[in-house]
Amino acid sequence: MTRALILGGTGDANRLADALSRARIDAIYSYAGRTKIPLPHTLPTRIGGFGGAAGLADFIRTEAITHVIDATHPFAAEMSRHAVEACAATVTPLLALERAPWMRTAEDRWIEVADIAGAVAALPDAPSRVFLAIGRQHLAPFAAKPQHAYTLRLVDAPGAALPLPNADVVVSRGPFTLEDDRILMQTRGIKWLVARNAGGDGARAKIDAAREFGLPVIMIARPELPERPRVERVGDVLAWLAHDARLGA
Ligand SMILES: NC(=O)c1ccc[n+]([C@@H]2O[C@H](COP(=O)([O-])OP(=O)(O)OC[C@H]3O[C@@H](n4cnc5c(N)ncnc54)[C@H](OP(=O)(O)O)[C@@H]3O)[C@@H](O)[C@H]2O)c1
Repeated sequence: MTRALILGGTGDANRLADALSRARIDAIYSYAGRTKIPLPHTLPTRIGGFGGAAGLADFIRTEAITHVIDATHPFAAEMSRHAVEACAATVTPLLALERAPWMRTAEDRWIEVADIAGAVAALPDAPSRVFLAIGRQHLAPFAAKPQHAYTLRLVDAPGAALPLPNADVVVSRGPFTLEDDRILMQTRGIKWLVARNAGGDGARAKIDAAREFGLPVIMIARPELPERPRVERVGDVLAWLAHDARLGA
């Protein structure tokens, strides 16, 4: 009997959850618990960390999980590494559902950097107006460049003081349209965009808007992850589960 675990927190994970419910495949959806009101879907849900790779391996055994689908955000590297480790330890098949990264076009002005520290270093020294589209957890390093006026877009209103002296917070949840992001950038006079290479359509509008306005984009590359099988479409996950079920896994 198939019993899948979805490591979620993304729109793709929610689309997968709904597809598994429709197909009447037994599954549990796991959230880290970062956002106050997670997006709705139709699967049984658990919330919170597992306690590292060993905790996830225990969960897999206790809940008799037969398949794990890592549908976390491409930058949720710790969770993805733990999934690889826990699935190896429990001999559980693992598949990543992950969007391809965005590719730069001839019209883009990208400065590609390896990580957040690289993004901070790539910002200019002269005060400017920066759209920091990177999520709440990674703001602190930008305090090293306090001269900039930062625009942040966060899913939840920040509960505590932000580490940046000059930050304008927009509370909003994607997907965002090109028109949304044109307006956001124009009304705030944005001169620089800092983004993570998330891929997919839901967060791409800011990259398209920056290209239209000829703005430089500091693009943070995805973290390195161990090799694991990977697909980009929900339908491919269903095919993988069906194939394994036919083999009696
Ligand atoms: N939709 C988006 O745009 C977006 C953007 C960023 C992040 N996210 C989601 O937010 C979550 C946290 O991101 P992150 O960058 O903090 O991840 P991370 O650094 O890889 O994870 C840190 C720890 O959080 C726990 N965790 C992460 N994802 C979990 C999940 N789905 N279920 C249970 N525990 C989870 C794990 O704790 P333990 O070690 O205790 O198990 C993990 O070691 C991820 O699930 C990710 O998919 C979504």
